[in-house]
Amino acid sequence: MTKQHPLAIGLDGIAVAETDLSLVDGINGLLVYRGHWARDLAIHHTFEEVAHLLWFGHLPSEQELTDLKDKLKANRELPEHVKGILKLIPADVDMMSVLRTGVSALGSSSHGFPPTIDEVIALAAKMPTIVAYRFACLEGLEPLAPNPELDHTANYLYMLKGVKPNAAHVRALDAYLILTQEHGMNASTFSGRVVSSTESDLISSITAAIGTLKGPLHGGAPSEVTEMIEAIGTKENAEPWLRNKLESGGRLMGFGHRVYKTIDPRATALRVVASELSSNDPWFDLATHVEKVGLQLLEEYKPGRKLNTNVEFFAAAVMRAVGLDDNLFTPTFAVSRVVGWSAHILEQAGNNRIIRPQSNYIGTMPE
Ligand code: ACO
Repeated sequence: MTKQHPLAIGLDGIAVAETDLSLVDGINGLLVYRGHWARDLAIHHTFEEVAHLLWFGHLPSEQELTDLKDKLKANRELPEHVKGILKLIPADVDMMSVLRTGVSALGSSSHGFPPTIDEVIALAAKMPTIVAYRFACLEGLEPLAPNPELDHTANYLYMLKGVKPNAAHVRALDAYLILTQEHGMNASTFSGRVVSSTESDLISSITAAIGTLKGPLHGGAPSEVTEMIEAIGTKENAEPWLRNKLESGGRLMGFGHRVYKTIDPRATALRVVASELSSNDPWFDLATHVEKVGLQLLEEYKPGRKLNTNVEFFAAAVMRAVGLDDNLFTPTFAVSRVVGWSAHILEQAGNNRIIRPQSNYIGTMPE
């Protein structure tokens, strides 16, 4: 039998850094990026503007925005060796493993510490291209070159779908990407900061962060949300299916959060975005029913744990509504979160001390 260790608390409630980047208030359900409500940024700003805020500390002037967009556009193309690797990876390897490998293959030309803002922008520009390139290979299509006429989010959708996307889809995906750019000391950001704290390079830090995001308890949840809704299939089946899951000790995907003990503000915002795109969509109707029944059953099976729907539940709905395949959900999360990861890595490098916690030995001593 596995020994239960009292210290297996997953660093719950432990602050490991001071940051200017974001406040995640799990009691009051608040999310702030550098003095701005994330929700307002998602409504009134674009991916590039919010990335500028996180990377440079302020929303950009017109000229600063043009400069950032130009730099992102200039760095979208992949080196030939990376394209070759993306083509060679067997088709059954999952997209997050491919993204991790593609990013790793970009490599670092020097020792690479401290990371520079130019390296950060170049990487954020290339990650959508890696995902879209691989997706085209899997679909048996010729990968499309990035389109310099299009901004970051529109270009991502264009490379994935092969047509210029409609404005409503771009706006919805932009809102999702903004709301997930940054989120305090989540597990993947922590991984990235730990690697960077050893004075390793940006690519190594982001590779670790991608591997951490992949897990279903973190960024791997949205495709499992759609799998759950599809397995449930009908409104009548929701209650028995979810009950059976909880009876057998399973977790309901898209519910619960380490920090939020009230409604995840990103879920609230994305619910609106998803519902605007999904009127008369039976899938969305079923999803909202599953949410309602899931919340009731969680209260019955896990009373007092304060479990609500999290960002991943409605992320799945938004990404599905803009026409992304399930296997693109978590990679798309990474395409946005690279902004927060890299902002944290720059912050760590600016005031570095190696992150090196301890463990308490509870084994036996030699005779
Ligand atoms: N379904 C059923 N029970 C749950 C769920 C869930 N989704 N989430 C938590 N619980 C239960 C736990 O079993 C535990 O019960 P217990 O007190 O009887 O042992 C209690 O609620 C507290 O849960 P913890 O596991 O201690 O919560 P923790 O903070 O460690 O985990 C996590 C948070 C991983 C997000 C968890 O809620 C979960 O597994 N959710 C499902 C996966 C998911 O949606 N992940 C995406 C998170 S959002 C993001 O990362 C971007």
